[in-house]
Amino acid sequence: NHNDSESTTNDASSRSGEAMRSSAWYGGDDRNAYLHRAWMRRGVPDHAFDGRPNIAIANTASDLSPCNTHLDEVAQSVKNGIYEAGGIPYNLPVISLGETTVRTTAMLWRNMAAMAAEEMFRANPIDGLVLLGGCDKTIPALLMAAASVGIPAIVVPGGPMLNGSFRGRPLGCGTDVWKLSEEVRAGKLDPEYFVKSESSMIRSRGHCNTMGTASTMACVAEALGMTLPGIAGIPASDSRLLEFAHATGRQAVRLAEEGVTPASVMTKAAFHNAIIALAAIGGSTNAVVHLLAIAGRVGVELELDDFDRIGADVPLLVNLQPAGEHLMEDLFNAGGFLAALGEVRDLLDPTAVTVAGRPLVDELDGHEVWNRDVIRTADDPLQRGAGIAVLRGNLASSGAIIKPAAATPALLRHRGPAVVFDSVEDMHARIDDPALDVDENSVLVLRGCGPRGYPGMPEVANMPMPKRVLDKGVRDMVRVCDGRMSGTAYGTVVLHVTPEAAAGGLLALVQDGDLIDLDVEARTLTLLVSDAELATRVPPASLTEAYGKAERGWSQLYIDHVQQADSGADLDFLVGASGPAVMRESH
Ligand code: FES
Ligand code: MG
Repeated sequence: NHNDSESTTNDASSRSGEAMRSSAWYGGDDRNAYLHRAWMRRGVPDHAFDGRPNIAIANTASDLSPCNTHLDEVAQSVKNGIYEAGGIPYNLPVISLGETTVRTTAMLWRNMAAMAAEEMFRANPIDGLVLLGGCDKTIPALLMAAASVGIPAIVVPGGPMLNGSFRGRPLGCGTDVWKLSEEVRAGKLDPEYFVKSESSMIRSRGHCNTMGTASTMACVAEALGMTLPGIAGIPASDSRLLEFAHATGRQAVRLAEEGVTPASVMTKAAFHNAIIALAAIGGSTNAVVHLLAIAGRVGVELELDDFDRIGADVPLLVNLQPAGEHLMEDLFNAGGFLAALGEVRDLLDPTAVTVAGRPLVDELDGHEVWNRDVIRTADDPLQRGAGIAVLRGNLASSGAIIKPAAATPALLRHRGPAVVFDSVEDMHARIDDPALDVDENSVLVLRGCGPRGYPGMPEVANMPMPKRVLDKGVRDMVRVCDGRMSGTAYGTVVLHVTPEAAAGGLLALVQDGDLIDLDVEARTLTLLVSDAELATRVPPASLTEAYGKAERGWSQLYIDHVQQADSGADLDFLVGASGPAVMRESH
């Protein structure tokens, strides 16, 4: 105590065995401790500096990340919980990424957000972290940062929007934008209806209400053990989110006192459970790159093939868009994520313990299913064996993925002639051209969209259907791309083709009319062109000229250091841990 008044709050520091990290700033009475304490005295009490946990709330609230704008209110509940448990909370704004708005693609900045957050966690006098995310990249970036810095951490997902509805029909974020816009292009939907539905889609605060990347990463964070069990999927507008946020603040203080690190929670067993969950909910393919990147930070050996090996036979239980029909509010009312996970309890690793201190499997007790149309049983699933499949072949020697839950079953085995596009712009310019030689048996190829070729690896793999094909009433065809696809999208889309065209992948050598063979059951993706013929080909200038140029700053760093999708598209120098060690003095 640095003044003579008596501290009356409960003394969290007295319960801790070891000195808090922040004591390196605030402990003692020398000149530097004076500096550190004096400047922080803006209403924080004297006992903030007595060795109790100082907890940063890493807050991605931003008016330009519309899915996260409500997080300041959530942060207040977290603060209340931290105070109540005897800790001291600090709001720490971190880089935020609004998926729909940020160019060129929010994914270009995921690693930057992770790097910046990691460094601010390291640089500051903090003992624990509450990670507030929502929109697609925000939870992955914060988990990557926390994993690398190794400070005790817990996630609060911001929660999905309430169901949208227009003229008596539910509107799913993202998914219905893709669907309705294709109907307009096919001449089946009045363009006015389409435009009018716009103001009904986003009905409340929160992130996308489909099982897109944000909903997926909230569930995946919970399956990893990094949230209080039961929080994933509570709608952003539901009062229970604030109750959970308060409880999370309390738990963050305990985690700091006990020194529970992210690495001790995110074990190989935890990743196993995350992959089971990803398959059972029909989650976003983006979770594959995010989980690989997080594993790389925390030192868990996770490979692309693990997603297939662990997840492929898992039944799809959750009937949510884009794989099914309902929305996140329906899942919550049907019993929620843990009720769904309870249906595949036998597949989970019982050794994985969550931040709440008990095995995840024990947290499934008491979560019942109230609506069997929304959450199916493992015996009567929406689809059997719906987990992400990993394909290999000359066209993807380091792997490509496909999400059977979002695909047309009849197209999972298909052979057809390639129609090749060398950039997103090329695709948009020609896709509806009446002269384009394409029919429903063609395989659309879009290349130059991998992590390096189009820095950030944009969500363009679900190319719009050519008008000629749409007009025939066809709504899906095989598409192959080295980019990603929105978690809200659907279709028979082979994505994350690795190596990408810009990294020497065979994709760069495909020509119009070449036969491509897709066989998901055999897990193959093959370009049926002889090696002798391929040896004579070089990537066309129209492709290589479209590749991203490293001009300066972040894009320069990114292009020089980004890894391929099968390693999570992290930067090579960010893999692994920096650790929580206190850095050198500033004065
Ligand atoms: Fe933010 Fe979908 S755009 S979650
Ligand atoms: Mg997205």
